[in-house]
Amino acid sequence: MRTQVGIVGAGPAGLLLAHLLKLHGIDSIIVEGLGRAVCEGRRRAGMLEHWVARLLIDTGVGDRLKREAEFHDGIFISHEGVARRIDFQALIGQQVVAYDQKDVVTDLIAHLLAGGTQILFEVEDAVLHDIHSDAPKIRFRQGDDIRQIDCDFIVGCDGFNGISRACIPARERSEHEMILPYAWLGILAEAPAPEREFIYGWHERGFALFSRRGDNLSRHFMQCVHSESQDSWPDSLIWDELTLRLGGARELSRGRILQKSYTPMRAFVAEPMQSGRLFIAGDAAHIVPPTGAKGMNLAIADACVLADALADHFIRHDEVKLHNYTDTCLRRVWWAQHFSWWLTNLLHADVQRHTFNLRRQSAEIDHLLNSQAAMTMLAENFCGRPYDPF
Ligand code: PHB
Repeated sequence: MRTQVGIVGAGPAGLLLAHLLKLHGIDSIIVEGLGRAVCEGRRRAGMLEHWVARLLIDTGVGDRLKREAEFHDGIFISHEGVARRIDFQALIGQQVVAYDQKDVVTDLIAHLLAGGTQILFEVEDAVLHDIHSDAPKIRFRQGDDIRQIDCDFIVGCDGFNGISRACIPARERSEHEMILPYAWLGILAEAPAPEREFIYGWHERGFALFSRRGDNLSRHFMQCVHSESQDSWPDSLIWDELTLRLGGARELSRGRILQKSYTPMRAFVAEPMQSGRLFIAGDAAHIVPPTGAKGMNLAIADACVLADALADHFIRHDEVKLHNYTDTCLRRVWWAQHFSWWLTNLLHADVQRHTFNLRRQSAEIDHLLNSQAAMTMLAENFCGRPYDPF
């Protein structure tokens, strides 16, 4: 098999890249270790920055999003029993869009397959070869067959635990990591959420986030101790704890818990995001803590930068954007790291529950909710910078 761009991984970065390349007339093949149903079923955060929703709509993969996504004009921050709203629309004229990552993935897979792009699911033992030559290759097993894709470029969109990042030689690579001392316990439950928009809840017992996936489907999260397993939280205790952390700011409806999840909190950046003819994108290169819901948005921004750069290479024989890929992406990534770190620190109770820190956080939240300038700063960061190809 031969293609211009071999893509490893059928998550948001890989799928969107294939989609954007196709619009430029550049062909690609995606290889993915998991089956299609697993890719389409993996529940992750569900917040799109406005420009991402626009991009999906404008490039022809937003029909279901337009029908089913919820457009939010703001968020609530609850603190000491009161939920106060930060109105993005009034402050900066922008919105965010609640649409699950698995729905973005499902829509892109359907669109790509219908348009003839090959996505090879359930491949095993994928290995990248010759990334420092003009003819890099992806070799893998599919059933009993060993297969090879000859490529002009390879893009690793295979997540934090994928094979691609490690193919950038260790002597070129530096990694920056911060492991936070807590995690998120998440539930999906058959119950109406307390608000249509997200409520980010500060409480001295720990952070909680209240969101929804439909009229009778809630997705809530709460800060828990790092390494505490989801099994140590029986359902009734989770509801009790979430109710305490909402602090009376709203009524919390309970219902059957359908799924539980556990998300360790980590921040990570690898650089460079390229070596020879290999580029990496999305979680393969960087992880943000989930508090700012930036992960999928960053993956999509990487795909946009790379699609533009590859179009310049193939169509205009101009290498400048390819050469600058890492710097262009990391500027956005480090800004998102800073925002995610700031929001995480603002809202999570420190593990020792030092009263100094709790009082200091309360003062910062009080200032935030009473300052037009501080709320505007949060709104600009939360809604994200539109992608600018230049
Ligand atoms: C979610 O609904 O999954 C969600 C929303 C906002 C976040 C994180 C996760 O910051």
